[in-house]
Amino acid sequence: MKLFAHLLIAAFLAVPAFFAFSQEAKPAAVPAAAPSSADKPDLAKGEASFMAVCAACHAPDGNSLIPVNPKLAQQHPQYLIKQLQEFKAGKRANPIMLGMATTLSDSDMKNVAYWVSSKKATPSVAKDKELVMLGERIYRGGIADRQVPACAGCHSPNGAGIPAQFPRLSGQHAEYAVAQLTAFRDGVRGNSLQMTQVAAKLNDREIRALADYVAGLR
Ligand code: HEC
Ligand code: HEC
Repeated sequence: MKLFAHLLIAAFLAVPAFFAFSQEAKPAAVPAAAPSSADKPDLAKGEASFMAVCAACHAPDGNSLIPVNPKLAQQHPQYLIKQLQEFKAGKRANPIMLGMATTLSDSDMKNVAYWVSSKKATPSVAKDKELVMLGERIYRGGIADRQVPACAGCHSPNGAGIPAQFPRLSGQHAEYAVAQLTAFRDGVRGNSLQMTQVAAKLNDREIRALADYVAGLR
């Protein structure tokens, strides 16, 4: 908690504008439609549904081998539940995941999210030596003259994220991260005002650099 507060303060000091949307962050932390949040997740049920449906694309241990399908292993369960709710509601537009999430009840989402988050994420590697240095610079320090905040302030220096709101990025497929950053920037992924504002100021090269860097983070 102390680290969390510390990182947030660091992010806010760096970019005072973030005070404005710290408001937006609050409701997002708790998925609105999770009435059974007091109940414990049923991990056995979660594993069974994951194996039956999700493993085909996200791999049996949640470490998808297909670069356009995100790794889900070790991701914060609250973040995963938020995404499933928002795919289902059409707030995060994706035809494949709309179909998947539509079949899940609130408790299915919780079971599957807690199960896959208990799996260990496999690391990836950065591929482009020159780009990765640019990525590292922005990740750690932001871009001061364009008011791009340091990614580390919200996603933590090692990319592990900060539960429950800020997802883990380390080891994620670069192709997937490029797609998401581009989608935030271009208004295609509209389920996070914070990330829309961050990505709005990034060019394609910077996006590729950041995605390559986070893939190799551990
Ligand atoms: C046919 C392939 C496919 C299947 C089956 C599938 N997914 Fe996905 N999933 C995807 C793709 C592709 C994306 C990326 C969507 C995007 O670009 O927004 C994704 C994204 C996600 C995300 C968002 C992750 C993030 O980091 O934001 C979650 C959560 C998720 N899937 C969970 C599941 C669960 C749970 C199941 C089983 C019920 C499932 N998926 C089944 C292809 C699939
Ligand atoms: C002010 C806090 C904040 C900052 C700074 C920030 N992010 Fe994020 N980021 C978020 C939040 C919150 C989400 C989850 C959005 C959601 O709930 O859908 C997110 C999601 C993402 C995702 C999608 C993850 C997934 O699995 O789909 C990527 C990629 C990402 N951020 C990259 C970055 C990069 C790169 C930077 C630096 C240029 C950055 N973020 C800076 C708050 C932040």
